[in-house]
Amino acid sequence: MWSSRWLFILAAAGSAVGLGNIWKFPYVVGESGGGAFVVVYLFCIALVGIPIMMAEVLIGRQGRQSPINTMRALVKEVDGSSGWTLIGWAGVFAGFLILSYYAVIAGWSMYYIVLMAQGLFDGSSPALARSVFSEFQQSPWLMLGWHTAFMVITVAIVARGVTGGIEKAVRWFMPFLVVLLIVLVIHGFISPGFDEAVAFLFAFDFQKITVETLLTALGLSFFTLSLGMGAIMAYGAYVPGSASITSMVVTIAALDTIVAIAAGLAIFPVVFAYGTELTVEAGPSLMFETVPLVFGNIPFGSIFGTLFFVLVSFAAITSAISLTEPGLAFLVEEYNAKRSRVAISLGVFCWVLGIGTVLSFNVWSDIHLVGNLNFFAFLDYVTQNIMLPLGGLFIALFAGFVLPKTIVGSQLGLDEGYKSVLWMILIKFCAPVGVSIVFFVTIFNSIS
Ligand code: PFF
Repeated sequence: MWSSRWLFILAAAGSAVGLGNIWKFPYVVGESGGGAFVVVYLFCIALVGIPIMMAEVLIGRQGRQSPINTMRALVKEVDGSSGWTLIGWAGVFAGFLILSYYAVIAGWSMYYIVLMAQGLFDGSSPALARSVFSEFQQSPWLMLGWHTAFMVITVAIVARGVTGGIEKAVRWFMPFLVVLLIVLVIHGFISPGFDEAVAFLFAFDFQKITVETLLTALGLSFFTLSLGMGAIMAYGAYVPGSASITSMVVTIAALDTIVAIAAGLAIFPVVFAYGTELTVEAGPSLMFETVPLVFGNIPFGSIFGTLFFVLVSFAAITSAISLTEPGLAFLVEEYNAKRSRVAISLGVFCWVLGIGTVLSFNVWSDIHLVGNLNFFAFLDYVTQNIMLPLGGLFIALFAGFVLPKTIVGSQLGLDEGYKSVLWMILIKFCAPVGVSIVFFVTIFNSIS
């Protein structure tokens, strides 16, 4: 049991805030053409993400076990089909796939701690920032080394159990990360590209919304809130019975969204200030080019920059931990296995899979598994755009149509008033229909 509702909020925010916000959100906005994407993304968070996160927490708190066993127990309790337990299994699988590439990117961020500390970017130009990154991408062994380091740290923490150290650390690190993001946003605010960046991020151009934008925004909103794979459900199992699920979930989603928008406001002014030398469509390299460039050119930049990448790596660790939790908790519960042994085995499995992602940026960059997607892009696409939304869809259906109203009502503290009606509309209609329409349109579009 978490010692208070705040520790759950902190842990769940620790899971939600990660590379998805600081690294992925800005580059995906860049590739998807800006404001139209952001608006769709915000709608997805509010109308689909929040209800599904509430559903995950309430299911977890009702079952009080790992997601797979929670689903088993609830299905038994309500006499439902055992097919629903697939939600738990698919989540465990998705967690491993995501962790395998997440650890590679988090490894980049750890490498940048060292580069920043060495003062490599002091007085740097966009050309230098870009060449450092592209050289790194061409070095599979170096990348593998940092991937390994990240995985070892994650496994070491997970093996010891989540509560002790990590909660205490998150309490300090998260506020620090926010402060440094504010420094970057202020830098963005005074840089000449700020107006253009705001226009890019928030101008809503209806015509720019494509089918691909819809799917990517939906997928990213699941990814960033850690939804659809049981991570939040696993954390929900330890939530004290008296805490209000709605207010906790809204707080977590708000924190997550603020961090993502702040990352955008930090990165895009720099891109626009440098005109043709940096591009909004830089892809995964965006953060690793703009952020070092900024810190290389402000007073005490190498200290701030080092700290920034420490914090990003830390945010990645608190997310990585939650990626392992559904599988780990299940194996420990089911086989009474030692937590440390399970953690090491899972770590080795994900590490090996991660080698595919390391190679996707160099040796295998031109090997396409499907369409123009290489190994990393394929894993990223399948997990983010298909597995998480599908998991979320079934979680919403389960909470909306299978769990009895009495259970849901008492978990959420709903009586028969307007709040109950609003909840029903969101979980029975908005979330499932939203996800289904996006899927349907995507499939239709790719066939035609
Ligand atoms: N929410 C994390 C991020 O934005 O970086 C990534 C993530 C963690 C996804 C845990 C899914 C998950 F279960």
